[in-house]
Amino acid sequence: MTAGNRGGEPRRILIDCDPGHDDAIAIMLAHGDPGVQLVGITTVGGNQTLDKVTHNARVVATVCGMTGVPIAAGSAVPLIRPIRTAAAIHGESGMDGPVLPEPTVPLDDRHGVDLIIDTVMDNPPGSITLVPTAPLTNIALAVRKCPAIVERVAEVVLMGGGYSKGNVTPAAEFNIAVDPEAAQIVFTAPWQVTMVGIDLTHQALATPAVQQRISDIGTPAAQFVVDLLAAYGANYRAEQGFGDPPVHDPCAVARVIDPSVMTVRPAHVEVELAGRLTAGMTVCDFLGRDGARLDTDVAITLDAPAFWDLVVDAITAIGRP
Ligand code: BDR
Ligand code: CA
Repeated sequence: MTAGNRGGEPRRILIDCDPGHDDAIAIMLAHGDPGVQLVGITTVGGNQTLDKVTHNARVVATVCGMTGVPIAAGSAVPLIRPIRTAAAIHGESGMDGPVLPEPTVPLDDRHGVDLIIDTVMDNPPGSITLVPTAPLTNIALAVRKCPAIVERVAEVVLMGGGYSKGNVTPAAEFNIAVDPEAAQIVFTAPWQVTMVGIDLTHQALATPAVQQRISDIGTPAAQFVVDLLAAYGANYRAEQGFGDPPVHDPCAVARVIDPSVMTVRPAHVEVELAGRLTAGMTVCDFLGRDGARLDTDVAITLDAPAFWDLVVDAITAIGRP
């Protein structure tokens, strides 16, 4: 177990994302919390098309006043399957709700897969943690293009999957369902993976009290989050019947900042690729049948108050001199 840095050197993380309301909050948590240092952002087609989510990543960086963090566009489409987006939740822009400022942060001219590889290979072994919060296409391609990253990465803490349920189908969660083949590559590579799935993230509900705390911060960055959550919450209510919206992606960042924010159980995880009803399901074997190694930590229970304290503190810190 390598997660955790409270009081120590900040953990260096690269977020591979598809902003996305909750991806945006994940980026803001990583930017605002002193426990992690964001060293790169890569984007992948998912919640919306690659051009839209890449634009949105630059918007979020601009809202944060972020400088010196490379942002690179990665894969537009999954390895094999056609892309599917989540416009019903994230809107036409991929981040509907707030007025989106014109980004002032440049786009790195490398492909996202190359930024991932460069970041891992140019830093000391064991110093970079990958935090994917989107379909796993870029991460799988990076493994295939440069297998040496696998033993060099500290760990992979991803938002995706679920051990008991799906959200886009009864069996499959969106990030895995979009590119199951990529997910299978990531789960079966010999590195430490933590799967922060929807069993966990459905405990990270942005209640009215949470939204009020963020609103009370009173900064432009906080207002941006308030506006994100208003639109996201309305869509979650209409589409999936949630009273308060689950804010998935920051949970993975929170796990790196403070592992005690959630409990995990070791399991062997593989992805169903062929099932007519179950494609994209993360099949979690907690018993290690037939000698399967329990090599993935599966997130179980969230300390929601501690999680929201991290998020509120990080948003408060953004824009502070
Ligand atoms: C995941 O899917 C996306 O819509 C969210 O950004 C999150 O990464 C939740 O299933
Ligand atoms: Ca996402």
